[in-house]
Amino acid sequence: MNSSGERRRLPGLTVRDGLIPHPFDVENGVRTSGLVAGRHLKSGHAHDRHATAYFGVAPSVFHKLMGRWERTRPAAEISETTFIDVGAGMGRAVLLAAEMPFRQVIGVELHPALVRTARRNVAVWRKAGRVKVPVRVVQADAAEFAFPAEPTVLFLFNPFGAVVMRRLLKRLARAFAERPGALDVLYVNDEQAWVLEQQKGFARLFSGKVPRSRADNAADKRILDNQPDGEYASAPYEDCSIWRWMGVE
Ligand SMILES: C[S@@+](CC[C@H](N)C(=O)[O-])C[C@H]1O[C@@H](n2cnc3c(N)ncnc32)[C@H](O)[C@@H]1O
Repeated sequence: MNSSGERRRLPGLTVRDGLIPHPFDVENGVRTSGLVAGRHLKSGHAHDRHATAYFGVAPSVFHKLMGRWERTRPAAEISETTFIDVGAGMGRAVLLAAEMPFRQVIGVELHPALVRTARRNVAVWRKAGRVKVPVRVVQADAAEFAFPAEPTVLFLFNPFGAVVMRRLLKRLARAFAERPGALDVLYVNDEQAWVLEQQKGFARLFSGKVPRSRADNAADKRILDNQPDGEYASAPYEDCSIWRWMGVE
């Protein structure tokens, strides 16, 4: 907090820092826009230094990847499946998942300011009658989170580097050891896919470029072109992959 008692916005979330609201926020009355560089995401946890950045997923990429996942014949019905966004940020993917018929939707986010905003966004969504299932946003490190003993789909939008990815996968391998097929991983901007390849027990079901819609592409390009230090690149697609936990003999 600053001297007047107000919480200061994270760098990248003010107009002065180049913030341009994404149409998703303008149309829906939520706050999920902005780009916060990884170096500004300081929660006090040892894993902070592995954080990539905050940036909300393009809704069109989310929907296309979910459609692809639904066509992979998941082991359980969607109504029995828990959706978990690992590195939920301000909750854009959580909001989109909350409109689907999952058993429940959980956002796991390390940074407390992003968690607060995500919870406010969920409240807006709920008030608008758009939350179809139980939804919560938990402040936790992804590699320490206790995963529920239910069929699970894990969503990741490139939240962290290889060190945390490896720790997360080891934890998942233990938690799902006796439940082959009960865990799917949907990975957007899958920079650490090689870590998944090395972890025994995961089969890749899909790998490819998922295009943004024209509107999302224009919005994200405008936001990324407006970065003060031009650190992150924009492309009209995201490299994505879908993985299924098959278990280890
Ligand atoms: C690219 S953003 C994705 C936001 C959201 N998933 C979406 O699609 O709109 C990645 C997020 O991962 C979070 N993160 C990074 N390391 C984390 C960790 N170890 N545990 C939990 N969250 C983490 C960051 O704070 C950031 O908000």
